[in-house]
Order: sequence, then structure tokens, then C-alpha cells
Amino acid sequence: MPDLDPSLNLEIRPEIEAFFDPATNTISYVVKDPASTACAVIDSVMDIDYAAGRITHESADRIIDYIRAQGLQLEWIIETHVHADHLSAAPYIQEALGGKIGIGALITEVQDTFGKIFNEGTEFQRDGSQFDALFADGDRYSVGGMDCLALHTPGHTPACMTHVIGDAAFVGDTLFMPDGGSARADFPGGDAGVLYDSIQRVLALPGEMRLFMCHDYGPNGREIRWETTVAEERAHNIHIGGGRSREEFVAMRQARDATLAVPKLIIPSLQVNMRAGEVPQDASGRPMLKVPVNGL
Ligand SMILES: [Fe+2]
Repeated sequence: MPDLDPSLNLEIRPEIEAFFDPATNTISYVVKDPASTACAVIDSVMDIDYAAGRITHESADRIIDYIRAQGLQLEWIIETHVHADHLSAAPYIQEALGGKIGIGALITEVQDTFGKIFNEGTEFQRDGSQFDALFADGDRYSVGGMDCLALHTPGHTPACMTHVIGDAAFVGDTLFMPDGGSARADFPGGDAGVLYDSIQRVLALPGEMRLFMCHDYGPNGREIRWETTVAEERAHNIHIGGGRSREEFVAMRQARDATLAVPKLIIPSLQVNMRAGEVPQDASGRPMLKVPVNGL
């Protein structure tokens, strides 16, 4: 197990509450230390009616209400990556409950890429300073008494991280449920071969480790699910299970990505999420989003 320092306690079983957002098929999590009131939020959602230019917070309020009702202390608000399909509610949740907002250190690459695409001015910092913490590969942090590990798992995006918390790992968009396969690797900065290598890192975690997905689309009409295990993914993942080769995976992934539509919310999502969930403002300070015509 080359990735896991033996001092990391994988015996702790965090209490995990999932919040499914049907508008974007995103699963957000509240991850609680079983031995204290400390918790973390992973991949929250801010609601948007893009056609109307209207942003609301029902999804985030459900998480905030849950944390308050349980009497929990929010220590971390984690983004597994810069999502292209939903907006993060991290600052809204932080305003209500505190906690530090963290993302992978290579957010700087994502900010550089999309800073150009959205023609952001020099006031848009590309150094990740909008976030409270930038995780490098192998970084450790704690939630109450839980010792947590950030693993760099790029490919879907350059900054993707998998977070190992006790006996659970939050894989972001590295993997989907076994019958869903894997996430696309065709966004700017994405790479199918790199994604394969990252998935192998996740599959090298202990077989019994619980894995929690960021998305599920209920393939073939099944009910929405978000939890599986490393062993299940190794054996049954339709894109990579059973020892699929890197070449096979890359060919499959590239062929499939060529057929996928652009995510409906990619334009607002990137502008907000590369700012740690803050909506950009125009020169007069009003919240305002751009549409780069033929720019993506
Ligand atoms: Fe994603």
C-alpha cells in the first residue's frame, strides 16, 4: 500500500450523511467524526436557474439545517475539484457555519486555463488564494480526531483530489458507481491516460474501504446510489474493472467523450467554482456571469 502511511488510522468509521441534488445528480456529504461533534462538508451545491440568472440556496440550507440540528462543528468545506456541472455553495455554508474551504493545489492550473477562456482581468488571482487551503498530494489534515489524507487523482481535471477519511474515501469524479464507469476526461486539462493512472491509485486502497461518489445518474433506470467499495470497483467497474489495460481504457474514454454533450451548467459553474464558490462581479460590484461565445 505505497500511498498510505501506516500511521493513518483507517479503522475510524466516520458517520456519513448524503444529500442528493436531483437537478445536477450531485451527491454532497456531511462527514462526522464518530468521537466528537466535528464534521466536514464535501462537494456542496448552490442552486441556479441559469435561464433566469437566478441563484438560490435550498440545497445548501438543507446541509446547514442538518449540521445545526445535529449540533455539529464544521471544520472543513472540501471541494474534490472544480466542478463543471454544478455551482459550489462553499462560501454560503462557511458564512453560516465557519470552516475552512480546501481544494487541490493545482487549482492554479485550472484558474489559469479558465481565466484565459473567460478573459478575466488581472483582478482575478490565479494563485488559489480564494481558498483557505490548497492540498498537495499526500497532505494530511484532521476533522476532530479523524486523520484525513488528500490524494492527487487528476485526469478528469488537473486538480482532482480523492479524500481518505478513516475507512471511507471520497473520490470526486475519478470513478462512478461500478455500473457507471468513470468520469469524462475531455475538459481542458483533462487526460484519459492520467485518469486511468489515478483510478489505479484509488483501486490500490484497501478492498473493504467504502467509496463515495460525487455523481450518479442511475444507469439503466436503477435507483440512485453513491456508495460502493474498492473491491466492488476493482471487480465490476464497467470501464476499468477486471484489469482493463491503460490503452483499452484510453480508447474507450476518448471515443465516449467525443459523444458527450457539454454540461448544461459548465459556463456558470466554472466562473463560480474557480473563485471558490463566489459569484463574479462586474465593475459596479453587481453579481454577473459571462458567456464566452465559441470560447469553450
Ligand atoms: Fe466534475
